[in-house]
Amino acid sequence: MKTLLRIDSSARVEGSRSRQLGDALELRWRAGIPGGVVVRRDLAVDPVPHIDATTIAGFFTPVDQITDVMRAATALSDRLIGEVEAADALLITAPMYNFGLPSALKAWIDHVVRIRRTVAYDGVTFRGLVTGKVAYVALAYGAGSYEAGGALAPFDYARPYLTHVLGFIGFRDIEVVGVEGTNGEEGAAAAALDAALKTIERLPSLAA
Ligand SMILES: Cc1cc2nc3c(=O)[nH]c(=O)nc-3n(C[C@H](O)[C@H](O)[C@H](O)COP(=O)(O)O)c2cc1C
Repeated sequence: MKTLLRIDSSARVEGSRSRQLGDALELRWRAGIPGGVVVRRDLAVDPVPHIDATTIAGFFTPVDQITDVMRAATALSDRLIGEVEAADALLITAPMYNFGLPSALKAWIDHVVRIRRTVAYDGVTFRGLVTGKVAYVALAYGAGSYEAGGALAPFDYARPYLTHVLGFIGFRDIEVVGVEGTNGEEGAAAAALDAALKTIERLPSLAA
């Protein structure tokens, strides 16, 4: 049975445009994968705590030297990584907050990007260990012109960062759909949302 892991991160549940795009991507995935199962983690409704010093010590301690305290401090990271490993595809929805990702999503990333678990280091280079999976990303921006060549493109630290970090842990196939101008004039915002939803409809059948 194929599984899609869906991670939502907008603090808004009602009226969230990134979640709306995520719903459309989820529908497309379900259409292509009959009987597929969607596992959800809503970082706004059920936030993950920030990693702390003991978590970090646990991350960097060899397995045979790990203490019970470190094991407890890395248990949530184990669970979150397990969800990614168990999934065939990943869907992340996120708003732009202050030119980057919401801290709720960054907290999840800090648990999931973990040495020896999702990324290996041989002393020279890093190698992502989460391979053979597809990632779908839905982004919402309040302002406009973040697209390539747009006036605000240099200030988009959300899309480049998220795609980089997914690539860092091994994702090679990353599909990003964004909607801009969600806080703009109502008609233009509705048209932008409509265009983004149409883009999702036109995506080739979503892979598992
Ligand atoms: C705290 C906060 C910071 C924001 N910062 C930005 C920003 O830097 N650039 C921008 O274009 N929009 C910004 N916005 C607007 C959101 O990106 C926009 O409302 C988006 O639609 C939110 O996603 P959502 O609809 O999924 O909730 C910000 C919104 C909030 C609440």
